Amino acid sequence: MRDTVTQADKLVLEGVTSGYGPIAIIRDLSLTIRKGEIFALMGKNGMGKTTLLKTILGLVAARSGDIRLDGASIVGMSPKSLVTAGVGYAPQEQPLFQDLSIRDNLRLAVQSDRDLDAALDKVFGHFPFLQGRLAQKAGTLSGGEQKMLIMARALMLGPDLLLIDEISEGLQPTVVARIAEALRAERAANGTTILLVEQNLNFALSVADRWAVLKLGEIDDSGTTQSDSRARVLEHLKI
Ligand SMILES: Nc1ncnc2c1ncn2[C@@H]1O[C@H](COP(=O)(O)OP(=O)(O)OP(=O)(O)O)[C@@H](O)[C@H]1O
Ligand SMILES: [Mg+2]
Repeated sequence: MRDTVTQADKLVLEGVTSGYGPIAIIRDLSLTIRKGEIFALMGKNGMGKTTLLKTILGLVAARSGDIRLDGASIVGMSPKSLVTAGVGYAPQEQPLFQDLSIRDNLRLAVQSDRDLDAALDKVFGHFPFLQGRLAQKAGTLSGGEQKMLIMARALMLGPDLLLIDEISEGLQPTVVARIAEALRAERAANGTTILLVEQNLNFALSVADRWAVLKLGEIDDSGTTQSDSRARVLEHLKI
């Protein structure tokens, strides 16, 4: 019976500890995300959400514990090989090449120009404004447009697992709704598993199946996105 459950697990973290220098930020954290699930990870500023995503990607080394993707350990793998293995990442910080055009920023996400055309068609469906703006430098896009470009770039390769770090930060509600729609469509079409780090409670709970709150590098509470989850998460996010 356990085998069936394990097969349905996309990403498993088991007793993971990681941090910077001597300081542990993520502390003995265990978390399982199932295949095709949208999972919202929330928590106040500085609680370790970005560090956790970076640890999954190998950008911050796991000091102990195991991280498994489709049942195989990915500890020690390079971020590049994880991208090749189907992991997409929409980072929170310094995510775009400001002096490159939209087209070139998107092109860097794919292997060849042939892949580019198919991938572009797909992201134009989600974010139509990109279509007429391919030559514009990324650095001249508005903050909201840059966020959409980051999301588009993460979707380019059709990842099996998508890690998204506070994509809704500073976005108007209609753009947040468009991103929510893009994530639902991506999951419906490809069975994509999505780990969504968010502070926007309404957005997170409207797209996710389950949630967890991170507090000082540990999971403080978790649940499904039904019934009383909004009030519960809100309580955790209070300053
Ligand atoms: N490169 C670094 N070197 C040292 N400490 C760091 C580094 N990056 C982050 N930290 C610290 O690790 C802790 C967790 O930071 P992290 O960015 O993971 O939090 P977060 O939950 O993503 O916060 P936010 O909601 O503000 O994005 C913070 O105390 C932060 O100052
Ligand atoms: Mg962060």
